[in-house]
Amino acid sequence: MFEQINPAPYDPILSLMEVYKQDPRTEKIDLGVGVYKTEEGATPVMAAVKLAEQRRLEQEDSKTYVGLAGMPQFNEAILGLLLGDNHSAVNDGRVKATSTPGGSGALRILADFVVNNLGSRKVWLSNPSWANHASLVGGVGHEIAYYPYYDQATSSLTFDAMMSTLETADAGDIVLIHGCCHNPCGADLNLEQWQQVTDLIIRKGLLPFVDIAYQGLGDSLDDDAAGMRLMASQVPEMLIAASCSKNFGLYRDRIGAAVLIAQNKEQADIAYSQILGSVRGNYSMPPHHGAFVVAEILQDEALYANWRAELEAMTARVNGLRTGLVDELNRLGAGGRFDFIAGQKGMFSFCGLSVDQIHRVRDEFGIYIVDSSRVNMAGVSNNNLGYLANAIMTVI
Ligand code: LMR
Repeated sequence: MFEQINPAPYDPILSLMEVYKQDPRTEKIDLGVGVYKTEEGATPVMAAVKLAEQRRLEQEDSKTYVGLAGMPQFNEAILGLLLGDNHSAVNDGRVKATSTPGGSGALRILADFVVNNLGSRKVWLSNPSWANHASLVGGVGHEIAYYPYYDQATSSLTFDAMMSTLETADAGDIVLIHGCCHNPCGADLNLEQWQQVTDLIIRKGLLPFVDIAYQGLGDSLDDDAAGMRLMASQVPEMLIAASCSKNFGLYRDRIGAAVLIAQNKEQADIAYSQILGSVRGNYSMPPHHGAFVVAEILQDEALYANWRAELEAMTARVNGLRTGLVDELNRLGAGGRFDFIAGQKGMFSFCGLSVDQIHRVRDEFGIYIVDSSRVNMAGVSNNNLGYLANAIMTVI
C-alpha cells in the first residue's frame, strides 16, 4: 500500500536548518529557525532553568502520570504570566489552563476542542502567518482563510485591510491573532488597534484565538501581553495558545499551555472537561519536565529574578542588533530602506529581499534566510553583522 504515498513537501523552516548543517563554510550564518542565539552562536540552557532542573532531580520521586490537565502549579503560574496577577477573567474563575507539548500542542488541542464541540469553523489567519499555523489548526478540519496583515512592499501593517476583511467574517468564525512579536514579520498591533479588533470581534460574535510564543522578547513581559490582556478583559470567550519554548529556552522539552476563557465559571468547567478529552484523544497525557521547570521559576522569587534578568538581556541584545544592522546597512548606502527593522519586535523581520536575492546570499555568502525573506534577528551577532550587511548590499 505504501507505494501510493508521495513524499511530504519540505517545511520551509526546518529544511533550511538541515541544509545549513551540511554547509562546510565557517563564515556561514543561520538566520532561519526561530531560536535565540548568543554572540557566539550558541543556544544555551538559561541559568534559572538549570537551577530548577537541579531541584527537579533532587525532588522527583515518581514518574507516574500527573493527570490530563498537567501540573496544577504550572497551570496557575502560566496564567499569572500571561494575564497578569489580577486579571478580572481569572478572578471570576472563568479561565482554565492545561499543560501542553509546546505552543504547537496548545494550538492543536484548542483547534481539536473546537471541532469536536462546535463543529468545523472558518479560522482566519494573518497573511502572512507562521508557516505551521494552517497545518496545526486546519489539520483537524477547520477551513482556513486569511486576513491581510502586512505589506512587504511598504514594510508596514495593512491594518485597514485587516479590519475590512474581518468585517466579512461570519458570527462564530475564529480569528487567530499573534499575541506579540509577529512571526514572521515582526510588526505588532498597537494597543489602540487591539481595542479596535476587540470591538469588531465582540460586535460580530467572532471567537479570538491568540497565539503567544514570544512573550518577553519584544519590549517586556507585561508590555508584550498588554494587547492580549486587554482583549481578554472584554470578550466573553477566548482561546490562548502559549509557548515556553522561546522565553524559557525550553524548545526541545516541549511545554506550553492551552487556555480557555468562557463566559462564566460553569461554562468554563464544562468546556475544560472537553479540552481534557482532546488531550486524552490526541496524546493521552501531557509532558511534565518543562512544566515543573517553569512553575519552579515563576513561583520562586530568586529564580524568577534570575530568569527575568536573563530574558531581558536576551531581548536587549536582539533589539541592539536590529539597530546595529540598520546602522551598518545605512553606512553602506542603503539610504533608510531597511529602517523599519529597528522598530519591529521579537526575533523576526522580513528583510524584503526577493527569492533570487535570498538564494544568492545563501550560495555566495552562506547566509541562510527563509525564502519568505524572514530573518531571525537573534541569529545575527556583532561579529557577523558587517558580513551580513555587506551580503545584503551586494545582492540588492
Ligand atoms: C520558527 O518559526 O522558526 C519556530 O517557531 C520554529 C518552528 O518550529 O518553526
